Amino acid sequence: MKIHKNLSLKSLNTFGIEATAAIYAALESEKDIMDYLDKYGLKTDSTFILGGGSNVLFTRDFNGVVLHIKLKGIKIIDEDDDYVYVKAMAGEEWDDLVKYAVNKGYGGLENLSLIPGSVGAAPIQNIGAYGVEQKDHFFSLEAISIRDQQKKVFNKQDCHFRYRDSVFKNEQAKKYIITSVTYRLDKKPVINTEYGGIQEEFKRMNIKKPGIKDVSEAVRNIRNRKLPDPEKTGNAGSFFKNPVVTEEKYEKLIQRFPEIVSFKLNNDYYKLAAGWLIEHSDWKGKAIGHAAVHKNQALVLVNLGRAKGSEVVHLARMIRMSVEKKYGIELDYEVNIL
Ligand code: FAD
Ligand code: EPU
Repeated sequence: MKIHKNLSLKSLNTFGIEATAAIYAALESEKDIMDYLDKYGLKTDSTFILGGGSNVLFTRDFNGVVLHIKLKGIKIIDEDDDYVYVKAMAGEEWDDLVKYAVNKGYGGLENLSLIPGSVGAAPIQNIGAYGVEQKDHFFSLEAISIRDQQKKVFNKQDCHFRYRDSVFKNEQAKKYIITSVTYRLDKKPVINTEYGGIQEEFKRMNIKKPGIKDVSEAVRNIRNRKLPDPEKTGNAGSFFKNPVVTEEKYEKLIQRFPEIVSFKLNNDYYKLAAGWLIEHSDWKGKAIGHAAVHKNQALVLVNLGRAKGSEVVHLARMIRMSVEKKYGIELDYEVNIL
């Protein structure tokens, strides 16, 4: 366990924002977590659990305790004829778990290639990309309660996974430290190429009979083209969620804006492409101060180098106002703003 006072978090968040943690503790094992909680106790409202820092925006110094979860390890804990149950510790990089699965030929996570961040954070907002969400292959997770240090197992139904949402952003927000997540992966993978861009990418790659390695590579290629690399340009992926509207609202919108990009959901709702709404509110590529809207993907806000968190929030608020004024739609933040 490593503990620091007044530690800079700049290199620990992908936005590259300067902020200091009053207390920072790097925890490398369950024992570290238990020892820390035993010794210092914690108040949930002055604690921040940090993974890869790829979905967080610091707008001020953090006056409480930042617990950096660094538990490592990936192993198979069970298998049958069809499935393998892979348990990954929370501090593993998500993409390392994806590579592990793809290299062994276990299907399920390949569409989620190259998403930054840790395994422990994946269930929090139920990460998703290219037609798959982590919930589709989630089996269970283990967590420690900050309040009473009890260990708890959450099964899929306990987690209430929805689009970019789970119980850990609602009733159980900030109450648990996730220590490991187990995924049930397919030994006989069935690839999912429903997201249009993947098939186009196969054509570009000249792939006729794709397998999970090809899906993973196609997704990596698409993402590398569209999304800024946090190593070079600070960002946290999509800053806003794609808004979901009722059929009634959707019908009214397409009468006025026939080009609007949308996806019909299973129920009577429609998901709108927030990137399209932002682009057509004239924000793509625009900057205010040191914060900007990415030129290739309007849903992604970037740090031009010296942005403060408050500048990024200011830009986000201006975008929200424009989109609301033009389309009557309120965009919700995906990024956790502190
Ligand atoms: P952090 O930013 O460290 O934390 C995020 C939240 O999870 C915080 O509330 C934190 O307190 C909590 N948390 C973290 N670890 C734990 C733990 N062990 N226990 C309890 N709580 C914890 N997301 C997608 O869904 N799909 C994408 O396609 C996608 N693309 C992205 C592309 C880029 C370039 C970037 C920078 C981000 C992208 N994201 C995407 C967002 C991000 O990758 C995910 O939200 C990821 O799961 C965040 O992981 P993290 O470890 O960095 O979490
Ligand atoms: N679009 C525009 N202009 C833009 C951006 C997008 O018109 O500047 C339109 C295009 O028509 C495009 C459509 O929006 O076809 C969808 O764009 P894209 O495929 O890039 O996906 P997205 O809806 O913008 C979502 C996720 C991403 C995920 C991708 C791929 C959310 C909030 N974002 O983005 O996740 O990688 O789909 O599945 O759901 C993240 O959450 O951080 C993230 C990057």
